[in-house]
Amino acid sequence: MKLIINPIKQLKGQMTCPGDKSISHRAVMLGALAKGTTVVDNFLMGEDCLATVQCFKEMGVHIEGPVDGKLTIHGVGLDGLKEPARILDAGNSGTTTRLLLGILAGQPFCSILTGDDSLIKRPMARVTTPLTQMGAVFLGRQDNNLLPLAVRGGTLKPIEFISPVASAQMKSAVLLAGLFAEGETSVREPAISRDHTERMLRHFGAEVKVSDQTVTVQGRPRLAGVRFTVPGDISSAAFFMVAAAIVPGSEVTIQGVGINPTRDGILEVLQQMGAQLQIGNRRYQGEEPVADIKICGGELRSTQIYGTLIPRLIDEIPILAVAAAYAQGTTVIRDAAELKVKESNRIAAVAAELRKFGVMIEELPDGLVIQGGTPLTGASCRSYGDHRIAMAMAVAGLSARSQTIIEDAGCVDVSFPGFGDALKSLTVE
Ligand code: S3P
Repeated sequence: MKLIINPIKQLKGQMTCPGDKSISHRAVMLGALAKGTTVVDNFLMGEDCLATVQCFKEMGVHIEGPVDGKLTIHGVGLDGLKEPARILDAGNSGTTTRLLLGILAGQPFCSILTGDDSLIKRPMARVTTPLTQMGAVFLGRQDNNLLPLAVRGGTLKPIEFISPVASAQMKSAVLLAGLFAEGETSVREPAISRDHTERMLRHFGAEVKVSDQTVTVQGRPRLAGVRFTVPGDISSAAFFMVAAAIVPGSEVTIQGVGINPTRDGILEVLQQMGAQLQIGNRRYQGEEPVADIKICGGELRSTQIYGTLIPRLIDEIPILAVAAAYAQGTTVIRDAAELKVKESNRIAAVAAELRKFGVMIEELPDGLVIQGGTPLTGASCRSYGDHRIAMAMAVAGLSARSQTIIEDAGCVDVSFPGFGDALKSLTVE
């Protein structure tokens, strides 16, 4: 599938975004491990989260839907998963893989997990190393670093894990394994990463303590099914926020967006860049804060993005690089080496693709330097099979001088099915 983007006059109107990807994954996992029924509304019907659903079905969990975003999970309890007869397929999803490895580590059975061409190249030793310390046994290429991975789970012992990177997937893998260990399992991070696992564990009834950058979970909790609505994904809303910000005269309101403080770095950065952004109607959905976000087009200025801000906007860097290309001045992004091990090498992909629009951009080992303010020409872009690269480049094309084509754009369905239609519905040509 190709995305064809013609330069537009304005974006106008109201929209909602699909459910949050991180929260949707966790809802399936904790719903499966709880006793009783969990009903989730606004579940993300993207390919990544559907892969998580399929993996749990393979382990004997009865799951209905998703139908119109409603997913019903009939939980089997902490000890109720069954040995899967087939190889579990996480597709393109790092979150499915790493969090599931934490759960599989605590199972008294053998399982095998694999994924697509991108996922089988991504580093997994970051989770298999602490999970091995807890007592799980893995077998995989490069010293258990690469999928496919065979897991022989079993009785786990709690650990105090000091994580070398601020990664919610690493933290969550260890915390989820900690559910199966007697006693307290803790994870200390160098900076705080997204805390959806912690919030949702509490919502399901687990005991979770947070002190500075350390999270501790009490093992063998009694998890009980819950009902909640998944907030709109701020990482999907990000494409429309930047689209409205860079197209003069635009005015877009995105309703019900998750604004969890461990995820809201993009709001801070867009405000620093001078974007006209209003956050209203703040409320809670389950344990997660949400709001309506209104954004209007106007002049943007360059900024610096580094340090503890990085984990709060890690998935938004490709689209923030697009905002930087349209801003006056030089934007520097540092401390983001993690981008190299995402669905694609996002430092290399963003640099290569934005250059095609005529943007002056330099790659750093841990970031990017972007010279903004020169008008963009249309471009013919690759997606690298990476949903966020495809959508970021589509947005870059909205205010370019000529047509932009994104090849191999079917990957947007990983996190934002209907992205092209959402864009069309707000477009004033
Ligand atoms: C995610 C954590 C982040 C993020 C990913 C989703 C999660 O990855 O980039 O898209 O749901 O926990 P890392 O944990 O590798 O930083």
